[in-house]
Amino acid sequence: MGTMKDKSVLLCVSGSIAAYKAAELVRLLQKEGAAVRVAMTESALEFVSPLTFEALTGSPVHIDLFASASGPVDRYGPESGQTAGNGGIQHIEMSKTPDVIIIAPATANVIGKIANGLGDDVVSTSVLAATCPVVIAPAMNQRMWANSAVQANVSRARDLGYWIVGPGVGDLACGEVGPGRMVSPGDVVHGVIRALSGVEPSRLQGRKILVTLGRTEEGIDPVRYITNRSSGKMGAAIAGAARDAGADVTVVAGPATVHLPDGVALVRVRTVEEMKEAVEGQFDACDALVMTAAVADYRPATEKLHKMESGQKRATIDLEPTEDILGSLQKRRKKQIVVGFALETQQDEQRAQQKLKSKGCQLVVANNPLKEGAEFGSDTNLVTFVHTSGRLQRLPLLTKDRIAMEIIRQVDYLLGNPTGSRPPLVADANASTSSATSRPRSRARGGQRSGTRGGSRGGRRRSPRSKPASEASI
Ligand code: CTP
Repeated sequence: MGTMKDKSVLLCVSGSIAAYKAAELVRLLQKEGAAVRVAMTESALEFVSPLTFEALTGSPVHIDLFASASGPVDRYGPESGQTAGNGGIQHIEMSKTPDVIIIAPATANVIGKIANGLGDDVVSTSVLAATCPVVIAPAMNQRMWANSAVQANVSRARDLGYWIVGPGVGDLACGEVGPGRMVSPGDVVHGVIRALSGVEPSRLQGRKILVTLGRTEEGIDPVRYITNRSSGKMGAAIAGAARDAGADVTVVAGPATVHLPDGVALVRVRTVEEMKEAVEGQFDACDALVMTAAVADYRPATEKLHKMESGQKRATIDLEPTEDILGSLQKRRKKQIVVGFALETQQDEQRAQQKLKSKGCQLVVANNPLKEGAEFGSDTNLVTFVHTSGRLQRLPLLTKDRIAMEIIRQVDYLLGNPTGSRPPLVADANASTSSATSRPRSRARGGQRSGTRGGSRGGRRRSPRSKPASEASI
């Protein structure tokens, strides 16, 4: 709530059955504090009336490419009182001022135009003229999504620095099932928050990323179990960030209260044993494993067949240790990057350093739920990255979405991808060593490209307001 306070958003709706989801998206953006204006393509009008968006936003909807900009389009919101001035060209004026442009739903046609620099309607021309981040939420039939021309356009759009969110996988309006569905409005909002971070999108296209999240439950009897307080939020944020970086994401999810991102393959598990089996089944094929799950260390030695009776003077549960999933993967590991989490309540960093070695990780993310802002279920966290070089990178208090971007960036970096080959984006709150990086030299491709941090490739999509990421995020 309030993560987009004072942000102005231009929401562009194109012609897909998912256009109805744009109405809910407007509400969610407003709930986050954003001022929203809407533009629609001609074909979007076939699916939803502009009146819907006018009623929700209290502002006229932009449809006509050749309309002059005499309305209040410089700063959004009916109370702005500012105007673009008579005679301005509407799509130029509109695209000058927002903090972010969202195209949701984005058809194959709109994506094709944007990827190739074409502008023949109010949406594509606004994007062409924009200097702010642009978020694209694709929506189409699965065979259209799989089409190599569409994939080439999506890839090109990523290269140009556009933020792609989704698509989701599931039932499509045409009756088919597969990837192509627009992600949920909540997922789009997470993508927008990522785009507004001032950070360049990571590139994990063609990479397989395995993420575990949530808690485990170990049965005491048919009614009761041992578990912990993990919400799964950190893992869901990582899965969403990896998906939007273009990765093929599989989530192994223990019980969790969090909404899981669309467009990821999901394996649901309950116990440590089930989680171990699921992770082992996926590990060989993945490029990176991010193990956020809060796995039980002990389980009842026997699970009773019937409910434990009350009325006993004293009852004890005999516990046995569970398998260490990460630890046991060490002998199977080939090229995979393995990121572990360390949940500590004392000697956080020291213990996390021990875990890095004992579990064979390339990165451990240490956090302490007793610290303010890092409590279970919180939307923020206070973490330290523990690198194999011995470097401790203490991040400031950040949202889990933002931390997820940093983790994905580290994965990208450790895999030797171009965006990842640049230094981490968040300046250390208090770095413990001066060692610059833990990047394996042999894997690095390209060095830091000056002038592109905090913006997009080539700086084309850099917002005039965006700062270097090291300042922007703190
Ligand atoms: N983990 C695991 N298998 C377990 C326990 C933990 O793979 N049986 C993973 C977690 O997912 C996490 C990392 O190991 O990525 C560290 O988990 P944590 O709970 O911090 O540490 P433990 O290994 O459980 O050790 P301890 O409880 O003694 O701190």
